[in-house]
Amino acid sequence: MRGAFVTGTGTEVGKTVVSAMVARTAYTAGARVAVFKPAVSGLDDYPPRPETWESAPELPDHLLLRLASGSRQREDEIAPYRYGPPVSPHLAADLAGEQIDPNLIRGAADAAARQAELLVCEGVGGFLVPLTSDYLVRDLAIDLGMPVLIVASPGLGTINHTLLTIEAVRNAGLEVAKVVLNPWPEAPSLLEVSNRETIAELGSVAVEMLPHVQLASPERWPELALSEPEPERRLRAA
Ligand SMILES: Nc1ncnc2c1ncn2[C@@H]1O[C@H](COP(=O)(O)OP(=O)(O)O)[C@@H](O)[C@H]1O
Ligand SMILES: [Mg+2]
Repeated sequence: MRGAFVTGTGTEVGKTVVSAMVARTAYTAGARVAVFKPAVSGLDDYPPRPETWESAPELPDHLLLRLASGSRQREDEIAPYRYGPPVSPHLAADLAGEQIDPNLIRGAADAAARQAELLVCEGVGGFLVPLTSDYLVRDLAIDLGMPVLIVASPGLGTINHTLLTIEAVRNAGLEVAKVVLNPWPEAPSLLEVSNRETIAELGSVAVEMLPHVQLASPERWPELALSEPEPERRLRAA
């Protein structure tokens, strides 16, 4: 499967925004992009009628991903499990009186990937969040086998969270595509600059920064590539 699996050091770190930038960048470059989100919860926090979900800042994750990617997937093709309460997916499923079926998720992700050249899959919460009691976001990432992009905050505490996530991804046998620090401030402090260098060095990983973006203006979104250029391409570009 070609594309990226976007995880984060936690919830609200910017996985959806980063996934949207990656999907948009590939779409603008002419690729056919599909998006996927195994389960989305917290839909109760959005206006009740989907037709009022008009512009990017008000869209729930799976619909912002669709807008970003130019894809025409149906809601259930992007996010097979959709829940109202803003709780972890296994609990949201429990509250809805059902169980998430890993086979159904894998099948839906496969089907999404088959329609496109690239799949951008946003995880849920962090890397070890359970989708069921014995199927974690990590297990889905392993099943999809794509390089993992880790979104993290730039500030205090991020070195530990990011290195733990890098270690978990590599222990799962997966490649870390890059770390994206988000939102990167206009005038970064000494701490933020140092965090970036420390993560790159101790994690042996490419670290990029995404500034605050105007979600309502996709035409002005910054480019964010799926992964770093190969070393030779980097040399040629230099
Ligand atoms: N770079 C950014 N520019 C503008 N808003 C951002 C940025 N990163 C995150 N946000 C906002 O912060 C909140 C959390 O980001 P989100 O991508 O939804 O996180 P996650 O998917 O990890 O839970 C959202 O309201 C989102 O719009
Ligand atoms: Mg999200």
